[in-house]
Amino acid sequence: MLSMESSLPIRVTASGDPVPAERLAEILADPGFGRYFTDHMFTAEWTPERGWHEARITPYGPLVLDPATAVLHYAQEIFEGMKAYRHADGSIWTFRPEENAARMVRSARRLALPVLPVEDFVASVDATVRVDQRWVPEPAGEKSLYLRPFMFASESFLGVRPAQHVTYMVICSPAGAYFARGVHPVSLWLSETYTRAGRGGMGAAKTGGNYASSLVAQQEAIEEGCDQVVFLDSAEGRYVEELGGMNLYFVQADGTVVTPKTSGTILEGITRSSIIELCGKLGHPVEERAVDIDEWRDGVSSGRIAEVFACGTAAVVTPVGTLRWRGGEVGDGTTTGPVTQQVRTALVDIQYGRAEDTFGWMHRVV
Ligand code: PLP
Ligand code: COI
Repeated sequence: MLSMESSLPIRVTASGDPVPAERLAEILADPGFGRYFTDHMFTAEWTPERGWHEARITPYGPLVLDPATAVLHYAQEIFEGMKAYRHADGSIWTFRPEENAARMVRSARRLALPVLPVEDFVASVDATVRVDQRWVPEPAGEKSLYLRPFMFASESFLGVRPAQHVTYMVICSPAGAYFARGVHPVSLWLSETYTRAGRGGMGAAKTGGNYASSLVAQQEAIEEGCDQVVFLDSAEGRYVEELGGMNLYFVQADGTVVTPKTSGTILEGITRSSIIELCGKLGHPVEERAVDIDEWRDGVSSGRIAEVFACGTAAVVTPVGTLRWRGGEVGDGTTTGPVTQQVRTALVDIQYGRAEDTFGWMHRVV
């Protein structure tokens, strides 16, 4: 839990033109994912001389950027994804925000960006959610307010070196189900053409470039009739890594739950690490280890692997129905397995305050 208070003063300028209540009700009835943005945004600046300064919450609106702004050329950028949940009593909570803050520190180090202290990250998110609290949907239908903190090289300069002016922002977007079909098994396309990350690369950082590089592979997945792409390791093209925006879990028939180990090439998902702890509590042994793609294919065919699911902030816990590759397919794709369902329910019940938070994961904002 948080031990220090933020010392970053935040100036708030309220919007003179907030979205009217009736329009907001329409948006929150069917928010989709990433389509609508709240009335305000958080911004802070960094320079080597002044450190973090000029923290402010202002009306949401476009940025004016010089065409030479470094991020537009060299992609020196990182971001986070997290959610605010409304509980039945009206209170508003975030889930393990200090873990997102710590991951942003790790991403910043990898991208040669300045470190935003954990307490300033949490304070920025809390302040933004408080100002836009009417945008946090009622919990029915597992809706939430998706929060997107991000940091980018805002110096105008075409030389290749770490920027000397960096901007950090938080924007918020009400969210329903990430997949248009709701909780429904998804199909995965095994990319044998593209990889996501290599040894010494940026795979463990949450940086835009990783997503840019995944898009053509995701496009291939869609062309092959699948929902998402799954990547293998770049060295041997043999070990399962993760999806474009989610980690993976395998439930063996013997009850053991297996997830690919993190070794610098996959994103250390906060949902992933929470599920490791939840499985311990639910009595499922967990193994973090290398998973060979043939273990997956053969395991589903033989019944040794009983369930596969993907997890992440946006996708929560999503069953994987089918794995397809050039020349083959496994999985019947229609049902959500009992362990997947149990893990999903245990997680969302904590997030929405329906179950006791024995891990101390929830952070009250309002
Ligand atoms: N892997 C990638 C590439 C992601 O973008 C995400 C989403 O943030 C995850 C995994 C899951 O991480 P988390 O559970 O922290 O949202
Ligand atoms: C998240 O789960 O927060 C992500 O950033 C994933 C992205 C695909 C929306």
